[in-house]
Amino acid sequence: MTDPIASTLAYHVRTKHHLDRYAAGPGSLDWDAQPDAFRHWQGAQVTPLPRTVMATDIAWPQLDQPRPPQDFTPASLGSLLRLCAGITAWKQYGGSRWSLRAHPSSGNLHPTETWLICGGVPGLGGGKDGGQDGGLFHYQPRDHSLERRAWGGSTPAGVWLGYSSIAWREAWKYGERAFRYCQLDMGHVLAALAYAAALHGWQPRLLRLDSDQVAARLGLDRSADFVGVEAEEGEVIVSLHADAAEVAPLDPLAPPVWTNWAGKPSLLDPKPMYQWPVIEEIAAATRGGLPSSPTQQINESPRVASASTLAATQVILQRRSAQAFDGVSVMPNAVFRRLLASLLPGGSPVWRLWPHAARVHPVLLVHRVEGLNPGLYALPRSEAGAAGLKQAMPQMFTWTPADPELPLYLLLAAKAERTARTLSCHQDIASHSAATFMFIAEFAAPIQDNPAAWRHLHWEAGMLGHCLTLEAEAAGWRGTGIGCFFDDAVHEVLGLGENNTRYQVVYHFALGIPVEDVRLTTLPAYD
Ligand SMILES: Cc1cc2nc3c(=O)[nH]c(=O)nc-3n(C[C@H](O)[C@H](O)[C@H](O)COP(=O)(O)O)c2cc1C
Repeated sequence: MTDPIASTLAYHVRTKHHLDRYAAGPGSLDWDAQPDAFRHWQGAQVTPLPRTVMATDIAWPQLDQPRPPQDFTPASLGSLLRLCAGITAWKQYGGSRWSLRAHPSSGNLHPTETWLICGGVPGLGGGKDGGQDGGLFHYQPRDHSLERRAWGGSTPAGVWLGYSSIAWREAWKYGERAFRYCQLDMGHVLAALAYAAALHGWQPRLLRLDSDQVAARLGLDRSADFVGVEAEEGEVIVSLHADAAEVAPLDPLAPPVWTNWAGKPSLLDPKPMYQWPVIEEIAAATRGGLPSSPTQQINESPRVASASTLAATQVILQRRSAQAFDGVSVMPNAVFRRLLASLLPGGSPVWRLWPHAARVHPVLLVHRVEGLNPGLYALPRSEAGAAGLKQAMPQMFTWTPADPELPLYLLLAAKAERTARTLSCHQDIASHSAATFMFIAEFAAPIQDNPAAWRHLHWEAGMLGHCLTLEAEAAGWRGTGIGCFFDDAVHEVLGLGENNTRYQVVYHFALGIPVEDVRLTTLPAYD
């Protein structure tokens, strides 16, 4: 049997992009053969969800305040799903038309599938087939509906969201590196859920299940159903609580919960041209569970108020990634500080969903931020992170405090636009931004403890990216995730050593004022 720790570390190494060589990917792409972005469960009963978004009167700065929970109903769950997983717009250019969703996705390929499990919610699950109230549903973002996958038996009262990844959607375009992108996307998705749940007064909590257990609870292990179609990888299940103090039962969904199953998953790509067996290997190596206990002190970080006047639902629904930045705008210091504060424990609802020790730390190249010299900065998100990075980085980095309250340090004053661009696979968004982030993970130690930490580090980075996405949007700025970067070149610039896996870069993110592509037409999400 292959050692999962060795497999995980080996996958990470072989999927690095290098200045002179990219990770293995398809030699050519047929854009017309892109895998279907929407999986349907053929033959499953379809329940359209109400499309009205609730909580439209809550201003962005008030999003994280406690509020009375909505009742669990098709209307409130429909509202939640629109805000965390739904389509937010269609774009059109010439003969092409594509949808955008509430969360960004690498290459807009959307590998993450959303599942809803509920019991005791009137109007969901009862039916002519004699099913009991409740069941397991696949969320269909295309028309904002639920496809009923399982029912009968005894669904416990409550609401859960389950997530799976269809790696082929990403591997089709990105080859071996694709599994990284699935996990970064998963982080964005979890953060999107945390924001949307807060608006409805609900607390999301992660069930401490491993990927096989998640797969069993979502029916992804029913292998006969998946013959000839793309597999789905179990990621995580989140329970929603109306009462913040409620303790989540450990595993209320242990199978067999349901007696009846329906539907066959649709085929997404009839003619897959490439095979990337290493993706099966990394999936298998990282199927362990979540960290065992929450350790984050979530209230200790300084708070910085947002001055946004937008409604929170508007921020979420109008969120987009910038495709280009103007390269001149200077970010006001107050906006920058709010963005940074949202990344710290307690700084956004995301960190209540992910109350684990902060292990991913932003190191950033500041190009144009009011009151800050251009240069290399660090924002360690824990004391251990600060001490570890200081020790691992070169002595010439000054670690000069750069903010009266936030743990922001200037490491090196320098104009670094060209460096940012080069490190981010020569993409202009990294140099035309106001600042470009490199998310540095405490890497080897957590993976030695539990190889599943490799997924969780990417989730944490994706969550950080999502905080920036929404905070930037709220302030009239915009962000773009950058999954393409030259890993070891980043380590070299940061002085972390090329062969030292104590720290590794896992994600980049750029912020700036977007330049809109006026050739694109925007169409409404569902009308
Ligand atoms: C994990 C991840 C990696 C990404 N990498 C890049 C990138 O390297 N370059 C880029 O221009 N955009 C990148 N993006 C942005 C996506 O292209 C964008 O989210 C997608 O096209 C959907 O558009 P939207 O975010 O406006 O909905 C990335 C997004 C994510 C979530």
